[in-house]
Amino acid sequence: TERSLVLIKPDGFARGLTGAVLERIERKGYRLAALSVLTPTREMLAEHYAEHDGKPFYEPLVAFMSSGPVTAVVIEGEQCIAGFRSLAGATDPTKAAPGSIRGDFGRDWGNPVQENIVHGSDSPQSAAREIAIWFPGLG
Ligand code: GTP
Ligand code: MG
Repeated sequence: TERSLVLIKPDGFARGLTGAVLERIERKGYRLAALSVLTPTREMLAEHYAEHDGKPFYEPLVAFMSSGPVTAVVIEGEQCIAGFRSLAGATDPTKAAPGSIRGDFGRDWGNPVQENIVHGSDSPQSAAREIAIWFPGLG
């Protein structure tokens, strides 16, 4: 079975959507393998978002992600990497389908970075890399 790293970003945390996101994950049949509430450091985020370094939204993204608590979750289940990205919906909340997390809760208006509630790993390689950043003790 696969594992994926899910983050409930500062917008989702501040708006009290942590329970709603976890409920959707569990309803889909994925298990929670680890869960932690923390305010990420810029160093962690630089590692996590290394692929976006240099893009126009990189600085606003790191500032936004370090602005408050996030809930980091390792989920587990058959094809949960693709499955969670489908639950999350398109990156841009305006385009995300209703019924998806971002389609139902995400905001895109007037912000330097898309406040799209959640992150989910995009491949098994990303998942392994990201889980090591957020849960260094997890095997
Ligand atoms: P994550 O699951 O958060 O990684 O989202 P993703 O894989 O759908 O998107 P991607 O990895 O390309 O981008 C990471 C995050 O940067 C997104 O979730 C957005 O918050 C932000 N972002 C990505 N592209 C843009 C963009 O074109 N403009 C703005 N303003 N923000 C962006
Ligand atoms: Mg991504």
